Amino acid sequence: MTASYSRTIGVFDSGVGGLSVLHHIRQALPDAHLLYVADSGHVPYGDKPPEYIEARSLAISRFLIEQGADAIVIACNTATAAAATMLRNRFSLPIVAMEPAVKPAVAATRSGVVGVLATVGTLESARFAALLEKYAGEIEIVTQGCPGLVEQVEQGELNAAKTRELIACYTAPLLARGVDTLILGCTHYPFLAPLIREVVGREITLVDTGEAVARQLQRRLQTELPKLASGKASVQFWSSGDAQQANRIISILWGGTAAVQCLPQSIATGVAA
Ligand code: DGL
Repeated sequence: MTASYSRTIGVFDSGVGGLSVLHHIRQALPDAHLLYVADSGHVPYGDKPPEYIEARSLAISRFLIEQGADAIVIACNTATAAAATMLRNRFSLPIVAMEPAVKPAVAATRSGVVGVLATVGTLESARFAALLEKYAGEIEIVTQGCPGLVEQVEQGELNAAKTRELIACYTAPLLARGVDTLILGCTHYPFLAPLIREVVGREITLVDTGEAVARQLQRRLQTELPKLASGKASVQFWSSGDAQQANRIISILWGGTAAVQCLPQSIATGVAA
């Protein structure tokens, strides 16, 4: 039997955005059992207080651990900013979190001006301020909150006129400042990358963190958990939002037909820690 790092990985996001990370995790860990929770009944997280997001992240993480998760991936920049420290204090299993790709963007820029598209929650967090302090150096960082974009992705409106208008409106001030590198600082936005490209032009570099997070997960499994015999790849989805809508969107964004289960009522509706 071949030894491998097949494991059960619990992944969550405020909604379907984390599927952009799940695609990278599937590539990095082809035989892992993947559990995904879309908290679409509470999306967006970007305009909610950190305490609310902490409570949601705690309830969902407990659920994923009950389902057998060996590691948790917070596939959400906003939930990372609000809840990663708390989750790491509560649980001893590996917790991989994500934040906007400031370090690679700073390395990539030629104009010396980098733009960050993210939720207001991420941009206003102490964690984001610390990230800039650590990596921005001499590079000018211009940030832009993007209310409404997450909702467009949740509706599957990846090409709609309204989505294009929002993107044009949010990127115009950044381009006017001389940005040549744009950070997609929310896991919903990689699904809009083709449209963002059309709006901003091919010469602008887009960067996101999905692949790096999957590599980090792989490293942590290798160093922190014992090897297991190879497993059979599988994936299970839960949503706290409308079941029909969840089935439709997750099938589009994941590919193929996804049988999405409803999160148990107590977890889908509760926000208390
Ligand atoms: N996908 C999320 C992120 O990476 C959160 C979006 C939201 O719910 O506002 O920040």
